[in-house]
Amino acid sequence: MKKQTILPAKYLTGAVEPPGDKSISHRYAMLAAMAEGTSELRHFAAAADCHSTLDCMKALGAGVEVDKDNVKVTGRGAEGLKGSWRALDAGNSGTTIRLLTGILAGQAFTSKLTGDASLQKRPMGRVVSPLRQMGADIRAREDNFAPLEIRPAKLRAIHYKMPMPSAQVKSALLLAGLFAEGLTSVIEPARTRDHTELALEEFGIDVQKHGSSIQIRGSGGNGGRLQARSLDVPGDISSAVFFIAAASMFPDSNLLIHNVGLNPTRTAILDVFASMGAAIKVVSLRSAHGEVVGDLSVKGTSLKGGIVEKEQIPLVIDELPMLAALGPYTEEGIEIRDAAELRVKESDRIAALAENLRRMGATVDERPDGLRVEGRKAGRLRGAEIDPRGDHRIAMAFAVAGLAAEGTTTIRDADCAGVSYPKFYDDLERVAER
Ligand code: S3P
Repeated sequence: MKKQTILPAKYLTGAVEPPGDKSISHRYAMLAAMAEGTSELRHFAAAADCHSTLDCMKALGAGVEVDKDNVKVTGRGAEGLKGSWRALDAGNSGTTIRLLTGILAGQAFTSKLTGDASLQKRPMGRVVSPLRQMGADIRAREDNFAPLEIRPAKLRAIHYKMPMPSAQVKSALLLAGLFAEGLTSVIEPARTRDHTELALEEFGIDVQKHGSSIQIRGSGGNGGRLQARSLDVPGDISSAVFFIAAASMFPDSNLLIHNVGLNPTRTAILDVFASMGAAIKVVSLRSAHGEVVGDLSVKGTSLKGGIVEKEQIPLVIDELPMLAALGPYTEEGIEIRDAAELRVKESDRIAALAENLRRMGATVDERPDGLRVEGRKAGRLRGAEIDPRGDHRIAMAFAVAGLAAEGTTTIRDADCAGVSYPKFYDDLERVAER
């Protein structure tokens, strides 16, 4: 339970490279474990979450070799997973448990899936209910929470209109669809990240997209069609955003962020920053295995602030903690609407943001589905002791906010940042000029 001290900085300078993308790493690890042969995954996420996925795939029979951020996964085909007598532990990772539930629903063995105290409080009904419509036999604590028990079942394809925009739900159903009889289609009420679709195609599976509907043809429990691949994971834009925010806060900043994944379903946050007057330039652009990657140059400016709402929300959901914590450093403040989903993330992020922003002296109006954080006129933030509630993104957002506050900020239980970015504080210290 390490405490991290954050001292005020003058500006950010130099270069950083965020760790490999968490969402993409999960998907590559799972698909590689179901492919024929050995896949090589370079710049695999350092995130503890993605290592939970690797551990689960290993327990399900895949070969896993980790050498720093280079990971080799050997699979025995989609029908080659075997049951684990021990419960699979997803740790803190919602993506691990929800996507794996989709994969395990159509297997010929029983699985138990669980996670840490935070994960056991997060809703699983959103995947369990449509998977049951496909014929899955899943029991959940109070019918909604982990631990989950998934028994053998033969799945049938369904057409599912998702009640909420969620990449995890979409992905769980597409992965279950691999093992179902017929054509599974999932209709999204709003666009969400499409890494599962792109990764499936990379591993040789045909995925069709028609408007908001995504379709996959299953093989009815006979689907050993994934091919091992050698893949580079782009850097995680959701980790890069802490540096984008930190550099933007100080007029004299000049920061390069290398190798950032710029998949269009993830870059809405750059549009939000641009609309607030941030000076971000894409200085090079390339493609890697269906994903777009680039380097970003960020200079300091005066941020205007603004409102983030409606269909923007699912596209910036993981960046909202950083945006909210930036509110007091903007001219007009920041308002987040239509984001009740934030209450069922790794922590109740609306409550965690409101509480910690107030500790630093910000003026905050907490609402059921968002919050309004007053801008610069409400006064400069002062350093405080932050309780991130075990939530990596809350810890990192307040470390950044602390750089421009008056006095020292202390982040309690700071190691929780390792869920997505184990070297975060080192990287931040390296580019912060004092
Ligand atoms: C993720 C999807 C999002 C996001 C999470 C990662 C994914 O969750 O918040 O951090 O990798 O699919 P939801 O699908 O629940 O919105």
